[in-house]
Amino acid sequence: MAVTLDRLSALQVMQDAPVIPVIVLHDVAHAVPMARALVAGGIRMLEVTLRTPQALACMEAIAKAVPQAVVGAGTVRTAADAQAAVNAGAQFAVSPGYTPALGQACRDHGLALLPGVATGSEIMLAQEGGYTELKFFPAMQAGGPAMLKAWSGPFFDVRFCPTGGVTSENAAEFLSLPNVLCVGGSWLVPADAMAQGDWARIETLARQASQIKR
Ligand code: 3PG
Repeated sequence: MAVTLDRLSALQVMQDAPVIPVIVLHDVAHAVPMARALVAGGIRMLEVTLRTPQALACMEAIAKAVPQAVVGAGTVRTAADAQAAVNAGAQFAVSPGYTPALGQACRDHGLALLPGVATGSEIMLAQEGGYTELKFFPAMQAGGPAMLKAWSGPFFDVRFCPTGGVTSENAAEFLSLPNVLCVGGSWLVPADAMAQGDWARIETLARQASQIKR
């Protein structure tokens, strides 16, 4: 069944599955089979990072050919990135940091945004922009689960998607925290599996990830 989530919210993006895959695509031919494998494994919110020249074409290909998937753009840093993501069919955006200009651009487009934060001041800035569902990035390097526990006091109304250094080994610990709705990670889409076209392995990794308790 096609996913038709008009004006998807960041909360819906975070609640859909325990893990959002952080995807780096170098070859447009990989985009559709990879997306199908992730969907078959139970993961349909797909963050395609704007880190390669092929990223936007990959998003377009997935949006067109895999209606069960919801394509998002990762590594969105500027208003121009947000515009390009919308044009390519992205239904949500994930950013490594937050600026008021990016927040405004995503609001203007009706594009759900998970802004990246690593400090209390950044959380407060994102909240000023109306954002309360945030990506904690880079999660392990910036304090890991202990940091999220510390933030649960003053930022009791914020929910996080820790990303950066999250693995199949430590994901469950993050997901057990009350202020964590999902995690992000690249481990579901290993570069070697992608290069080899090992879609079965990606499907297995997605299935395991989709079953992590939260
Ligand atoms: C990234 O920006 O690359 C993401 O945070 C993914 O990080 P990871 O490779 O540590 O999962």
